[in-house]
Amino acid sequence: MNRFIIDMDPGTDDALALIIALNSINLDLIGVTTVGGNARLLHTTRNAVSLLTFLGAQDVPVAMGASSPIYGSFTYAYHFHGTNGLGLQLPNPSTKTVQTKAVDFMVEAAKGVASPIKIVALGPLTNIAMAIEADPYLIDSIEEIIVMGGAVECQGNITEYAEFNIYNDPWAANIVFNSGVPVTLVGLDVTMKVALSEWDLLFTGDGKGQRLARQVLGNWSTMHPGSVYHMHDPLAVLAAIDHSPFSYHAGKVSVVTTGEERGRTIFLQETGPVRVAVDVDVQLALNTISSLLNSDPGS
Ligand code: BDR
Ligand code: CA
Repeated sequence: MNRFIIDMDPGTDDALALIIALNSINLDLIGVTTVGGNARLLHTTRNAVSLLTFLGAQDVPVAMGASSPIYGSFTYAYHFHGTNGLGLQLPNPSTKTVQTKAVDFMVEAAKGVASPIKIVALGPLTNIAMAIEADPYLIDSIEEIIVMGGAVECQGNITEYAEFNIYNDPWAANIVFNSGVPVTLVGLDVTMKVALSEWDLLFTGDGKGQRLARQVLGNWSTMHPGSVYHMHDPLAVLAAIDHSPFSYHAGKVSVVTTGEERGRTIFLQETGPVRVAVDVDVQLALNTISSLLNSDPGS
């Protein structure tokens, strides 16, 4: 089983991704690190702790990360995800206190273990870039970073050119993509293909994860009537579990940091440490997500 850290900014789709990760028998989730993005860091951190508590995973440590990108400040997405970044009032988190910083958590988690860790990045890449800069040896201890981010051949979702996570910290993205660590980029090129207009058939049971997913999506659709929901972050977790629904091209990715193209991901197909998801078997992806959402033993 692979040891994983999830770096996240929950976020409605981050919440769905977390349910899937906790339900997968192939992921050993050793910690969650938080970053600002969809909402302020205090909101995303509180959401992460509340979600883990609700899902019965209060033992998973949470470490708080960056409240701003390497330069400037984050653009938030409350209008899309709702009040507090989730649009839900979850029960108060348990007594868990968040003591370690995200960068320290990543560096410590990678030290002294026989097998390298994997990181799934579901928000801006600030924490991961800062950890790589803080400890140059970290790159040898990370087997793969699976990133929800980027828009190579398609339009962006925050600007015409840029996907939200990469736009929010393009400098961090460049550090991560140039670090030499194998990176898998699951961006809008594939996530925009996996859209839900109804989800009754996706999860049928009454476990905690299924109830939470139903609440998240129900609440979101009340806020955005008639819109379809894209499974951005769940697809990145899916790629961390099973690459088979995806087709990839390998190469190098550089990110525009200034001007109207800020956050644009430019892909050069050649030998390189980054592989970009260029296509997805939509039905296979949805079936696997559905079975993971439904494998919640729950109650
Ligand atoms: C990404 O932006 C965020 O709003 C989502 O949580 C996802 O990580 C999609 O562009
Ligand atoms: Ca996210």
